[in-house]
This record gives sequence, C-alpha cells and structure tokens, in this order.
Amino acid sequence: MIDQIQRLGEKALAAVESATGVSVLEEIRISILGKKGELSECLRGLAQLSALERPKVGAAANEWKTKIETALSAKKALFDEQALAETLKRETIDLTLPARRHRLGALHPITQTTRRIVEIFSKLGFDLMTGPEVETDYMCFEAVNIPADHPARDMQDTFFLGTGVLLRTQTTSIQTRALRSQSYPVRIICPGAVYRNDHDATHSPMFHQVEGLFVDRGVKMSDLKGTLEFFAREIFGEKVGIRLRPSYFPFVEPGAEVDVSCFRCAGKDASCRVCKGTGWLEILGAGMVHPRLLELAGYPADEVSGFAFGMGIDRIAMILHEISDLRLMFSGESRFVSQFSSP
Ligand code: PHE
Repeated sequence: MIDQIQRLGEKALAAVESATGVSVLEEIRISILGKKGELSECLRGLAQLSALERPKVGAAANEWKTKIETALSAKKALFDEQALAETLKRETIDLTLPARRHRLGALHPITQTTRRIVEIFSKLGFDLMTGPEVETDYMCFEAVNIPADHPARDMQDTFFLGTGVLLRTQTTSIQTRALRSQSYPVRIICPGAVYRNDHDATHSPMFHQVEGLFVDRGVKMSDLKGTLEFFAREIFGEKVGIRLRPSYFPFVEPGAEVDVSCFRCAGKDASCRVCKGTGWLEILGAGMVHPRLLELAGYPADEVSGFAFGMGIDRIAMILHEISDLRLMFSGESRFVSQFSSP
C-alpha cells in the first residue's frame, strides 16, 4: 500500500510540474486530495491493515499529502507571479507621453475690464452699486434733468418697453437711485449694461457703462480731475495724462469730455494704431453734479456738491486690447474670448 501511495504521489507531483494554469492545479488538488480523490480512496483501505502497519502507511500518506500541497502552492505562487507581471506590463504608464491638455477658460475682456475699473475706484473708497436694466423713464431721464421734451433725448435712441418703462440708456439712472436712497457722503462706482437703438462696427444696441458719483461737502472740479487722472494712470500706465474739453450733459454743470493721452505713442506717431495719430483718446463724459439733481433728491444743494462721470467699458477694453470691431465682443465666439487669458 505504501508503494501505491508513493506511485500516486509521484504521479501527482509530475502532474503539478507540468500543469499549465491555476485551474489545472485546482483539478489536480481535487482529483488527488479531495474527499473523493485518489489518495482519500486509497486511505479508505487503512482500516483493513494491521495495527503495526497502519501508522506507517498513515505517516507515509501524510508525508505525501504535505509534499503535494507544498508543490501545489509553490506552483500556484509561480502562476500568480507570472499573471501579475503580465498585468503590470500591460498596464504600465508611459510617463513620457504628453499629458492631456486642460484648456483654461478666460474671462470675457469686458468682464476683466469692468473688474479692473471697479477695483481701481474701490482703492479710492468708492462702493460698488448696481441698478436695474429695465428702468423707469423717470430714473433714467426726468430725474437727471432730461424732461420729456428735452432735445438731449435725441442723443440716446431709446428702447421703450411700455409707457414710462424702458431699457436704461445710461448708468446715470443709478445716480438717481443712489441719491434717493442714501444721504451724503455718496461715493459709488456703478457698472452695468445699457441699451440704445444703434448698431454698427463701433455701436452695439447693448453695451456697458460705468458711472461714478461722489457727493459731499466741498467737492470741487479739481477733485474730479485728480480722481480721473489717478484712474487713467492706473489703467493705461504711469505716463498718461488727461485733458478736459467743455461739453454738455443735462445732469452736470459744468460738463466735460475727458481725453487720455495715447499710452502707446504719446502723440509722437502720426500713424499710431491706437490714437490714429491724434495723440488723444476720448474715454468718458464727466462734470459737476447739476444742483437740480441734488435738490430733486432732497439734498441741501447749497451745502453739498459732487462730481459724476460715465464711461464706456467696451471702449476701454477695445483700446486696451486693440480690438477693432465692437461686434466681436458680442459674437459669443470662444476663440475670441480665449485670447484674453485672465490675469
Ligand atoms: N451718461 C453720459 C452718457 O451716457 C455720460 C456721463 C455720465 C456724463 C456722468 C457726465 C456725467 O454719455
């Protein structure tokens, strides 16, 4: 019987040796060591043996059993190792491959410019204020000294939405809202979209303005000039200067149009792309708040005074980035926007 066990054992070891995969190993294990396996079958004859032989056969059987188990698990470890090596080979990461590009979005140049302008004025203590785009005729015109029959209404082709309701044509409407809702000192900077019935390369029916308003005791024209000079240098560079040309807006007296000297050529290049050789860029309208606005809002007009200004944000962005056609700004073209990587 010991011989039989030995033959069985040797056969099993040989089978393990030539096994081709983990599943084959499992088959061998079941066919030899399993409950109905050959070794178990063989050991069933143990009972017929004499008490002298039984322990010897038993010991031999155990020895073979251990040998086979050891061989099985050694072979299995080998197969596992091979499998792992193959997986690793298949799944290696090539660190020299170029990475997938993640395209960073860019803020629209108008958003960037708006934020920059607000940031500059907030350094001077101006608070951000906004107002509704759908506005009353009263807030947009009447209260800023443009009554219904005033010829100045011609300057701003208005979209009316109904009687007395319109799309605001100027952020000056926010001046009214501010003066009606707070007492002096008022120091606000108000960006927003405005609407006029006008459409070509330099005009869009929707564009953006930013309004500034400062009302307090003793505000003078020189405060306006100093403030605008500071702004111009912050946004266009240290070297620029400004000039005020007398102009008319019904809500200021005196009123001015403000030019900034060309930050690119300073007037020295007759063929300058930015200023077209004039040396100056018109950037905004401004002036001293008309006393009538203060009176209408219930301010003591003999005690307080103020200045106001309004500028086109789109125009500033176009000058800064040398954009030639305003329509590009509103084209929704991502290739256009992506050129203006955000700071
Ligand atoms: N609201 C004027 C415009 O749209 C600009 C302006 C604002 C002028 C404030 C003077 C003072 O043209």
